[in-house]
Amino acid sequence: MSEFIDRFTAAVAPVIAFDNNVEMVEARGAWLTDAAGKRYLDFGTGISVTNCGHNHPQIVEAAHRQLDRVWHGGGTFRYDSYVSAAEQLISVAPEPIDQFFFMNSGAEAVEAAVKLARHTTGRQGVVAFRGGFHGRTMGSVSYTTSAVRYRSGYLPLLPSVYIAPFPHPFREGLTEEESTARALFDLREMLRHEVAPADIACFLIEPVQGEGGYYPAPAAFLQELRDIADRHSILIIADEVQTGFGRTGKWWGIDNYDISPDIISIGKAIANGLPLSAVGASRDLFGKWPPGVHGTTYGGNAVACAAAVEVVNVIGDLLPSVPALSEQAFAGLRAMQSKHPSVGEVRGLGLMIGVELVNGDGQPDARALEFVGEHLLDSGLIFHPCGPDHNIIRFIPPLLISPEDLDHGIQLIDAALTAWENA
Ligand SMILES: Cc1ncc(COP(=O)(O)O)c(C=O)c1O
Repeated sequence: MSEFIDRFTAAVAPVIAFDNNVEMVEARGAWLTDAAGKRYLDFGTGISVTNCGHNHPQIVEAAHRQLDRVWHGGGTFRYDSYVSAAEQLISVAPEPIDQFFFMNSGAEAVEAAVKLARHTTGRQGVVAFRGGFHGRTMGSVSYTTSAVRYRSGYLPLLPSVYIAPFPHPFREGLTEEESTARALFDLREMLRHEVAPADIACFLIEPVQGEGGYYPAPAAFLQELRDIADRHSILIIADEVQTGFGRTGKWWGIDNYDISPDIISIGKAIANGLPLSAVGASRDLFGKWPPGVHGTTYGGNAVACAAAVEVVNVIGDLLPSVPALSEQAFAGLRAMQSKHPSVGEVRGLGLMIGVELVNGDGQPDARALEFVGEHLLDSGLIFHPCGPDHNIIRFIPPLLISPEDLDHGIQLIDAALTAWENA
């Protein structure tokens, strides 16, 4: 163990887990440099946070400019970067969303979105979906079922939360149509047996399940949810914390579908690494939530908001190149899949791609992922796993990745899989 890790072990509570023991000292664009001067291609992006790449000069400059002016208001006064960030988000928000307010983390945004839904509908029921990840605070973890380890040891969680199935065709060994039909049947049964639609405030759903395994929602599934919601005045919260800001090739995950959300929760990439999150809804809905019934001290920090203003500009510039990069990534990864029996499925949208590793019986293979992870670290590629069994490579490079770096990353994964299959 290095002295650096000794200091970590002594001073930092072990519950906060890190993927590796590398000490990074510099980050630029798609690349990281460790204390020994070794370079790594970053396909982890801090879990889809640094979508614009590390230390993007436009964003750094905007944050610096704000640092020299005003840092913090905490609700005691107004400043320009707050309203500018909201205006920027409105300019790219899905219909009918035309207002925002800010917080610090994704979990906080999800909790606020649910509070908004409960307060304005007067109903308490929340339907979330199996495999979803919405955060780790006591409220948000009540909606999180991406893996049982997030819940175990913390029971009881919030009441009036109902977990409905989400289609996971690969896991279930079904086609997308079969899996969707099964999930919708179970949802309808839930509404017959467990909770009346009239008691449900909201459906809370990720357009592409992230932590739960990079499963895009089938279009027919979301459409039926929208129809049920409309029939029963239930609100739909799209949790865009991971799917937002160009990750799926469009501004928002939900933009890949033909439905509109009532509320969105956003975080992660919003300020490219400075802590900021937000909830968006229509002016009409927000108008039913009286001033002061919710709030925050740090939310909408002036420097983070200044960064967010620039992030929207940078993502706007990067977005047109994402479809071609996505096509290149899927083509490369699917070619790799055809050579490697340990790759069960490659799935996702845009540059939010999961590569699922399986054993000879087609079951999740966490050992393969651990081996591949160590191999990739040695060869200079950083990624973060996902899925309840930790057997899925999250392929989430920054949106400014060059086609050459993208191919380089795929080749490194290919080589790591070859090493695993020959081990
Ligand atoms: C979809 C989704 N919602 C909520 C969260 C929670 O965000 P945070 O870790 O910032 O609280 C995450 C984090 O990974 C997420 O992916």
